[in-house]
Amino acid sequence: MIFELNEEQLAVREAARDFAQNVLKEGVIERDTHMTYPKDEVRQMGELGFLGMMADPQYGGGGMDTISYVLAMEEISKIDNSCSVIMSVNNSLVCWGLETFGNETQKAKYLSKLTSGEWIGAFCLSEPEAGSDATSQRTTAIDMGDHYLLNGTKNWITNGGTSKAHLVIAQTDAEKGHKGINVLIVETDWDGVAVGAKEDKLGIRSSDTHSIMYNDVKVPKENRIGDDGFGFKFAMKTLNGGRIGIAAQALGIAAGAYELALAYSQERKAFGKPISKHQAIAFKLADMATEIEAARMLVYRAAWMKDRGMDYTAAAAMAKVFASEVAMKHTVEAVQVHGGYGFVKEYHVERLMRDAKITQIYEGTSEIQRMVISRQILKGDTYIPVVAPANAVMQ
Ligand code: CAA
Repeated sequence: MIFELNEEQLAVREAARDFAQNVLKEGVIERDTHMTYPKDEVRQMGELGFLGMMADPQYGGGGMDTISYVLAMEEISKIDNSCSVIMSVNNSLVCWGLETFGNETQKAKYLSKLTSGEWIGAFCLSEPEAGSDATSQRTTAIDMGDHYLLNGTKNWITNGGTSKAHLVIAQTDAEKGHKGINVLIVETDWDGVAVGAKEDKLGIRSSDTHSIMYNDVKVPKENRIGDDGFGFKFAMKTLNGGRIGIAAQALGIAAGAYELALAYSQERKAFGKPISKHQAIAFKLADMATEIEAARMLVYRAAWMKDRGMDYTAAAAMAKVFASEVAMKHTVEAVQVHGGYGFVKEYHVERLMRDAKITQIYEGTSEIQRMVISRQILKGDTYIPVVAPANAVMQ
């Protein structure tokens, strides 16, 4: 097994780290406190190529592999998870979904705008009464011949107030269940699209989360992605990749909190020596380092499998459930290592602890990830090794 990153991957990680530490860090507490959308920072992410990393260069993308994408997500998530969720949704749900399943006309019209950050995209699946149970779509897209008539409400939409293009999942034929669901590209300045108030959240506070209302929106037929009835499969397949992005976000949160705890524990003295030299703290650091590294292996492995065209459904779910639980557990520990200082904003760890929680919820809760993994096990997914498969060589 070869665990080394190549030159390009190392350069991407360095660029993302530099951007996070030198640009994002300065105003992150202020933006979080006042729920200020990181407009300037998102523009810079577009200029630096972080918004369409995996897309083909012919559509303005970076043409990079998924490993590079998770490395960038990890570094940016050490500092600013509002920026990294905007980045994740735009890259892995919107650009990847459109590029993989859209037709040439759709890609020519929308993809370059989205990869550059000129437009930001949103992925509109969740509803007030359809979160985990995503097949229970109440939003309807009625076939009117040359267009669909879209009606309904979507909830918890990341980039909801700032996006110019929505990928909307909606039910066309209820009798067909999930096979009667479509996905439509909706431009937000079309008649009938309304944006609800910005949510006041526990974490990722400066990201832009809204409910969206569609009221008799006319969506041209050519804006349907894939064949009639492909919408639910589109959502599931796209979310498999999205979960790798959120797993990388969770990894970054855990690693960022660990870096802060390690540095603080070496400076802070108690009972005549740095607290890192006390076993109570040293063992916390050891557990953090070990479990974060295990999460990192799962995240990189899922990305590696995706890059090789393997079935990464279970790998992505495993990476997300494990990394998000490591993030939650060790951000709490990082606050504990900081003592009272950890409880105040200036030391950054309390924000990471608040941000960690959402990684166990969005793009499929931990419970849904376990459902996905167990279903894959029971259907005999060959990439869940009982003994390591012969092709599981990492190089
Ligand atoms: N990959 C590929 N296909 C999948 C899939 C996956 N992960 N999960 C399900 N499918 C397919 C199934 O194979 C099935 O296809 P067939 O009928 O052809 O066999 C079809 O989809 C329906 O699947 P199920 O019968 O398993 O449906 P279900 O209702 O029992 O369960 C679920 C589906 C897995 C629970 C699904 O509803 C789910 O993943 N729910 C979570 C939704 C979610 O992740 N929401 C996140 C919102 S987006 C967001 O958070 C973005 C943001 O802003 C940050």
